[in-house]
Amino acid sequence: MRLILLGPPGSGKGTQAQRLVHKHGIVQLSTGEMLRAAVAAGTPIGLQAREIMSNGGLVPDEVVVGIIADRIEQDDARKGFILDGFPRTVPQAAALDELLKKKHLKLDAVVELRVNESALLDRVEKRAEETRARGEEVRLDDTPEVLSKRLAQYRSLTEPLIHYYSERRKLLTVDGMMTIEHVTRDINRILGAIGALEPKDHEPA
Ligand code: AP5
Repeated sequence: MRLILLGPPGSGKGTQAQRLVHKHGIVQLSTGEMLRAAVAAGTPIGLQAREIMSNGGLVPDEVVVGIIADRIEQDDARKGFILDGFPRTVPQAAALDELLKKKHLKLDAVVELRVNESALLDRVEKRAEETRARGEEVRLDDTPEVLSKRLAQYRSLTEPLIHYYSERRKLLTVDGMMTIEHVTRDINRILGAIGALEPKDHEPA
């Protein structure tokens, strides 16, 4: 299964990706997590990404496309993957189409998590509070000011993907305002309905 989770910051992409990989035995490919690891390790990509991320901007397309191109070549991604936070722009989506085409692979679906903006702010603030209470470092972009910039980026650069994937008949929309468990059930139900959960014997295992 190859799936994209699409949604604004705090909509539950990471939460749902973890639950789905656990159930379906595929890998989660989160560009946000990969970039945070690069920032923590101080790699050249991390040094470039740090300021952009802490200001709520988007890392250049060629950088994230390069990261994903390398990652989907790895063995653990052969059985399938869930992209969490990628693609985020139309050029990233077009680059992904090319990467999959070259490998003769098909994207099963794009699941859009729809959540209203006040709930996003509540969730991100709650996450920051919980992180602080555990004595861990809070994400630099989990502040109301940076969240509003991340949302503005989402609206202008990422939301056009809803139309992009809807035109290609890949888009499935889920109400992300329900409980975490309910959202997982809804995603599994719609994936089951389109046959995405069935093994595909024409593709390498
Ligand atoms: P990234 O890490 O992808 O952040 P994001 O998209 O802003 O998303 P979040 O991680 O904040 O939220 P989420 O939707 O995963 O929700 P979560 O499950 O965590 O990207 C960070 C930055 O990296 C970007 O701003 C950009 O700079 C850069 N970047 C990354 N990818 C890039 C790309 N492709 N191109 C360019 N730049 C890129 O949930 C949030 C909270 O809500 C959690 O506490 C959770 O427990 C809670 N929650 C989840 N679901 C529910 C629910 N149903 N009910 C109640 N609470 C819930």
